Amino acid sequence: MSIAEVPKSRESRSRLSKTPPYAQPQSSNQPECAHLKSLDDLGALNFYCFGGRRDFTDNFRALVVGSGTSQSAIDLAEQLAGTDAAVVYVDASEQVIDVAQDHAKTRGVCDDIEWIQASPLDLAGMDLEPFDYINCCGMLETLPEPTAALKSLKSIVKPDGALGLSFHGKYGRTGVSQMRDMMSLVNRETDDAADAIGLTRAMIDRLPATNWCKRSVDLFPLYDGIEDAEIHDLFLSQQHCELSIPDVWEMLDSSGLFLVEHTREQRALCEPQFAFPEGPLLKQIQKLPRRDQQAATELYWGAITRHTFWAATQPETIAPLTDPDMIPFFTRFAAAHDVQQSILSTAGDEWLWRTRLAGEVDVSITFHVAPAARRFVELIDNQRTLAEIVETILSAYNPRPPIEEAMKIARYVMEVLLRQDLLLVRHKSTSPHS
Ligand SMILES: C[S@@+](CC[C@H](N)C(=O)[O-])C[C@H]1O[C@@H](n2cnc3c(N)ncnc32)[C@H](O)[C@@H]1O
Repeated sequence: MSIAEVPKSRESRSRLSKTPPYAQPQSSNQPECAHLKSLDDLGALNFYCFGGRRDFTDNFRALVVGSGTSQSAIDLAEQLAGTDAAVVYVDASEQVIDVAQDHAKTRGVCDDIEWIQASPLDLAGMDLEPFDYINCCGMLETLPEPTAALKSLKSIVKPDGALGLSFHGKYGRTGVSQMRDMMSLVNRETDDAADAIGLTRAMIDRLPATNWCKRSVDLFPLYDGIEDAEIHDLFLSQQHCELSIPDVWEMLDSSGLFLVEHTREQRALCEPQFAFPEGPLLKQIQKLPRRDQQAATELYWGAITRHTFWAATQPETIAPLTDPDMIPFFTRFAAAHDVQQSILSTAGDEWLWRTRLAGEVDVSITFHVAPAARRFVELIDNQRTLAEIVETILSAYNPRPPIEEAMKIARYVMEVLLRQDLLLVRHKSTSPHS
């Protein structure tokens, strides 16, 4: 069987007083919340950053810096409930911490989180035990020297640890960035935050069709009822840098970190195999180093508003699909979409998966459901190892086909489903992720 289809720093200084605290976007179609969910999924984290071998029940330490209203800290604490893991929340703003604690109380995990009011640059001097995982999203770009802050975070991650990072994307935010520049001029003589927000609202209401912010409403919907905090964060807050893919690679290089993988929602916007059909264009792009392939694909779509990815202190941290002691499992995301059942109930020999990303970019994966591939999917139960599944498949045949043939089919299934993190693997020595 063949494998089918197998800057820099842009400053906009505002002199506003009494700015509203940061609030996570409320609109249902804002992509950013979804990125963070995938980033903190322990199954994905283990697969991408710990070779599938991290047992989260064994003294795992997670830190969320610039955590805001704390979605990531809560998600981690919920997944780690009942273990001896530590989840530490850090934010500079007392007001934000109060809101975050209310959210955590509502979700029943407030006491499972350690709360610290600090800046990332202070953390290195606080004598904290090193962390396995540090999440820092949407915060470094607000600092005057993001690379220095990233290096400081790296100094408190374990030697085999990982980071989940997220930065504003340069090209997807073209409209927002121009609007910020415009509002920085318009508000230059305004000291009052409420006035500045009022002026920004008035501007939004009369943006012409030619305006870049208006042109990119599919990326940043200026919906009715947009909150003041969101307007402030998008158009009026201080010192935002927006990064392209080459900027991200450069920042990681100079911090001694390795880019592991973009999260599910981002990957298709920067990996060429999602953008281009098999043919000369794809072939040519795939001759380039990985960072250049990603750079070209980012420019092709122009829709990355946020780079969200895992970085590691060591190269090559992704779990091997060839290890017979790995246990394949359908992810929380796949379970939510009933993927396993959907494949098994496919009437024809092709299963098609479609999902819509930021900027209304459609992504699809096609899966050829040959009988052995279907049986492989059927046997996945988050307990059987690859070796056990393959043995079960082979034992049904007489004469018995060579093991390599079954492994090839297993690998095909896993590679296809892995493209959107529908299926991942973990080592048999680890406990299942909750
Ligand atoms: C844009 S929000 C991001 C929140 C959350 N990480 C997310 O992605 O939704 C940035 C957060 O960083 C916090 N922050 C800003 N500067 C900080 C600093 N120097 N140290 C720690 N937190 C900071 C702000 O209070 C805010 O809660």
